[in-house]
Amino acid sequence: MALEQTFSIVKPDATRRNLTGKINAKLEEAGLRIVAQKRILMTRAQAENFYGVHRERPFFNDLVDFMISGPVVVQVLEGDNAVARNREVMGATNPANAAPGTIRKEFAESIEANSVHGSDSLENAKVEIAYFFSGCEIVG
Ligand code: CMP
Repeated sequence: MALEQTFSIVKPDATRRNLTGKINAKLEEAGLRIVAQKRILMTRAQAENFYGVHRERPFFNDLVDFMISGPVVVQVLEGDNAVARNREVMGATNPANAAPGTIRKEFAESIEANSVHGSDSLENAKVEIAYFFSGCEIVG
């Protein structure tokens, strides 16, 4: 199995409801190690660039408004097959389709306010980690 790092965000709906600890517990129970973490308020430009691949989607403006509506916790997670493992513990994007026991099934409010983001590939994980963290902030 390959040791990987992936990028994760605890979204504003979750920080607002004080769920960071419960979400972190789920990540750790899934075998993921939080090797970097910080709580930030994203700027509009940061959120627009981060979600740039979705710029043409009808939900883009609402998504950006939501992501800057409150603090988020950005994280680097490390573990065997961390990208896939994190996607498994997050559950489907739409909480209505998420499997029992997943973060989104237990905590998400809607497809937009879905509590967490996780990288969808190792390639994107590298880009997303570098967007928010410098190398010396990541301690494995
Ligand atoms: P995330 O993994 O952060 O990546 C893009 C986000 O867009 C996604 O999670 C959802 O929270 C949000 N989103 C809002 N509406 C939709 C939609 N109709 N389809 C997919 N993603 C959506």
